[in-house]
Amino acid sequence: MAIRKVGVLGCGLMGAGIAEVAAKSGCDTVVREVSQELLDKGMKRLRGSLDKAVEKGKLEAAARDAALARLKGTTEIADLADCDLVVEAIVENLEEKKRTFAALDAVAKPAAIFASNTSSLTVTQLAVATKRPERFLGLHFFNPVPVMKLVEVVRTLLSDEAAIAEVTAWCREIGKTPVACKDNSGFIVNRLLVPYLLDAIRALEEGVGTIEDIDEGMKLGCGYPMGPFTLLDFVGLDTTYYIANIMFEEYREKRFAPPPLLKQMVQAGRLGKKSGRGFYDYSAK
Ligand code: 3HC
Repeated sequence: MAIRKVGVLGCGLMGAGIAEVAAKSGCDTVVREVSQELLDKGMKRLRGSLDKAVEKGKLEAAARDAALARLKGTTEIADLADCDLVVEAIVENLEEKKRTFAALDAVAKPAAIFASNTSSLTVTQLAVATKRPERFLGLHFFNPVPVMKLVEVVRTLLSDEAAIAEVTAWCREIGKTPVACKDNSGFIVNRLLVPYLLDAIRALEEGVGTIEDIDEGMKLGCGYPMGPFTLLDFVGLDTTYYIANIMFEEYREKRFAPPPLLKQMVQAGRLGKKSGRGFYDYSAK
């Protein structure tokens, strides 16, 4: 079965990006948000990204218009009934995800494959909350989705190899590079990235260097495109805090424990770029 029609649950930063790459690659795509207001906001972000791709010379204007014609926004989960693949990118909350998948399971065609873009929850616990655990896997995209090449394809003990192969082939069709991962919290990238980001905060707490100098050190010393504090602000401090807590809960190892400064910044509403202030101040931009 080829994947021709794709559903995306959630039109936030990740959901909008996933819907964009699916539609750009030629799939009919339906993206669902819980309210019209959130849907309008997400679709605006998505159109903005397509316009930016045209501006940057990455996409023809006609291809942008064709992608937009293949895209449909909805607030009704029933509109995803005939999708071949549904990728969930809603809030990183286990109960909320289980509820959403249960509602989807009731309307989706039996052959449909479900995927979660979860970054830290294990996929197995979501898969067993549906009636199709064998056609359920993790598909972890990276921010910004239209630019980042990687997708982690996560198989559980229950995943059907044919479903994994279909989705892996689809990742290549949409221009991404898939890597196979086992269903361990954090998969490959966050397993390594999260302790690094948390350690940068610990280094700051210990006075090893300033925010700017630690960032410059990792950018120029390791060739990373962003230093850890710029990346923390980019990912969102609340998101990082949430992921760290889930990973700490899973592994009980200090390297995944959120440092006090991260917790305080979240409590203070300094969430990074999206709130106008995190480790850096974005209010003037
Ligand atoms: N559509 C298509 N292409 C686009 C685009 C768009 N909307 N916007 C930009 N691009 C292209 C540009 O044309 C450019 O391509 P080129 O290199 O071939 O010229 C490239 O993308 C970079 O764009 P910019 O020049 O505008 O931006 P920068 O060079 O400043 O790079 C960045 C921005 C890509 C965000 C870079 O800083 C980066 O890679 N940062 C690290 C991001 C990262 O680590 N993300 C992962 C976060 S962790 C995560 O997501 C997991 C989660 O679970 C926590």
